[in-house]
Amino acid sequence: MKDVLRQTAETLRQALAARLVPPAEFRSALLAVPPTERDAWLDVVFDLHDVAEDGALLPRGCVPYLPTAVDDVLRAMELAQVGPDDVILDVGSGLGRAALLMQLLTGAVTIGLEIQPALAQASRRLAARVHGARFAVVEGDAAEPSPHLVLGNVFFLYCPFGGARLTRLLGRLEALSRARPIRVCCVDLPLPGCPWLEPVSFDGGALAVYRSARPSTAAATS
Ligand SMILES: C[S@@+](CC[C@H](N)C(=O)[O-])C[C@H]1O[C@@H](n2cnc3c(N)ncnc32)[C@H](O)[C@@H]1O
Repeated sequence: MKDVLRQTAETLRQALAARLVPPAEFRSALLAVPPTERDAWLDVVFDLHDVAEDGALLPRGCVPYLPTAVDDVLRAMELAQVGPDDVILDVGSGLGRAALLMQLLTGAVTIGLEIQPALAQASRRLAARVHGARFAVVEGDAAEPSPHLVLGNVFFLYCPFGGARLTRLLGRLEALSRARPIRVCCVDLPLPGCPWLEPVSFDGGALAVYRSARPSTAAATS
């Protein structure tokens, strides 16, 4: 990375340690970085150096930690029109890199759900470094019933699991969508047929963003 970019990342890291950086300021600093450099730049801002080790106890069918590309997070937040009044749940939040990025870009309260305790702990340390007061992480299996799920209205899933776990989670989100509108952002995660969700955007790439269909629309198409 060029020295000038590293310098902007380090300046922002110091600002985040000292004060709450408003979303518009964070966003304009990020957008000033060339897209190909944004992931490395964010790792300097967040002071993330090492690849996270997955615990030996990650259950079968659960996907190990890999960070979402910064530009997928950025585009997901734009397409889902996330703002400070929203509550984002990052289902399988790993080191909290995407969750904190979403929080800083939007001002929304962000909750990570993570099954690996060491990663949840690391995300708390990251939040402490970046003034992440509107971020919390909950340890446990996100496919199991959780009182935290109902707090969210934007759900971010970078391929945490598939199969029966995904079916169970989608069933809970469908029930939630009957009470209020929700948005679901998926990266590298094709969903089984969900007539209660309508695509906001899917360009054939890794990212797909959906919003819950109005109940009458879903009933007509199911
Ligand atoms: C592909 S990574 C995504 C990490 C993060 N969302 C990001 O974008 O940077 C998937 C994460 O889901 C977690 N995970 C897998 N199965 C899970 C489950 N059943 N409940 C909660 N977290 C899970 C993994 O430990 C891993 O951290």
